[in-house]
Amino acid sequence: MDKLNINIKKIRSDFPVLREKVHGLPLVYLDNAATTLRPQVVVDALAGYYLRYSANIHRGVHALSEKATAEYEKSRRTVKDFIHASSTAEIIFTRGTTESINLVAQSFCRPSFKPDDEIVVTAMEHHSNIVPWQILCEQVGCRLKVIPMNDKGELILERVDSFLTERTQLLSIVYLSNSLGTINPVQDVIDKAHQKNIPVFVDAAQAMSHCPIDVQTLDCDFLAFSGHKIFGPSGIGVLYGKEKWLEQMPPYQGGGDMISSVTFEKTIYNTLPYKFEAGTPHIAGVIGLGAALEYVQSVGLDLIMNYEKDLLDYGTKALLSVPDLKLIGTASNKASVLSFILPPIHPHDIGTLIDEEGVAIRTGHHCTQPVMKFFKIPATSRASVAVYNTKEEIDLLVQALFKAKKIFD
Ligand code: ALA
Repeated sequence: MDKLNINIKKIRSDFPVLREKVHGLPLVYLDNAATTLRPQVVVDALAGYYLRYSANIHRGVHALSEKATAEYEKSRRTVKDFIHASSTAEIIFTRGTTESINLVAQSFCRPSFKPDDEIVVTAMEHHSNIVPWQILCEQVGCRLKVIPMNDKGELILERVDSFLTERTQLLSIVYLSNSLGTINPVQDVIDKAHQKNIPVFVDAAQAMSHCPIDVQTLDCDFLAFSGHKIFGPSGIGVLYGKEKWLEQMPPYQGGGDMISSVTFEKTIYNTLPYKFEAGTPHIAGVIGLGAALEYVQSVGLDLIMNYEKDLLDYGTKALLSVPDLKLIGTASNKASVLSFILPPIHPHDIGTLIDEEGVAIRTGHHCTQPVMKFFKIPATSRASVAVYNTKEEIDLLVQALFKAKKIFD
């Protein structure tokens, strides 16, 4: 047991991929912001569906279909409890955070937004929280406004108010930046927006596996996350929305399951949440996501958060021991992400060289080109930790960086 009461040995043994060797060396997986590894229980849940009851949901009267439906809806309850939503009607399964944002742009915003209306985002958004709003702007003539950040990669909170005007129809903010690791003061931002009756969308793609989230306390209007960033399957995610908004929004897609009745003259849509789940969904993915969230609950997000904080502090100091290394993103409130440059070595070369040592990180712009532009760099190397990582692995990363430096020197 670690001093923080996390049984790391047990947790590591839950993740089969951690037993893999890369170039003959033990894998050091530090690319968790891109995607997390999956514990055996998630793989078992997926296999269980495909091996034992791989029927379609909601429509069948036979035993297998009833079992699949029951497991699918059980996952919806797990998601609801995990984020403390008030009802399963508020939990929509999507393909991921990206689809959730597009859904809100097209179903919540597009029908009512007018030319010159404004959508406000922050300077550290992922492309997924920029481009859907730009598409909307092209469609309806509204405008995208960007709250700036400082050189540490922190949102300039004092500037938020001046961006929220009578034209602002929506504020969309990332909870935890994927390229900087900044944890934004989302509660403060939501409160400020709500004082002016502006609804708020929270992109919790990165935050979900690192910070406990309670949508009722936050009082956010929408929140999205992806299964694969919280130890679940890829291709599945969630849109949380307040029932009052979801009720008044038209469907995002038409098809099966989202209807209550269809004639050639008129279609009556299904009730929530099914109105937004057209077609046969990613049934196994939903069931796997439920298993992933149950796994996280069994470890405890508070414990995870404390353990990772310790790891991040250790990693920050360790990386700064490498001569010429500069951290990109030094906010006082951070989680998981250690983005850095090590001139004159290009981040891509760093990624390739340390892969030879079995260390997996991500290099590039991390789908945040405006962040790279702000810091006047083309790319960063990014190590990102999850609950199964250890200080020994951080040491291996640092050793690999010293080795890469030696090659270039
Ligand atoms: N958004 C993912 C990342 O940060 C892919 O790497």
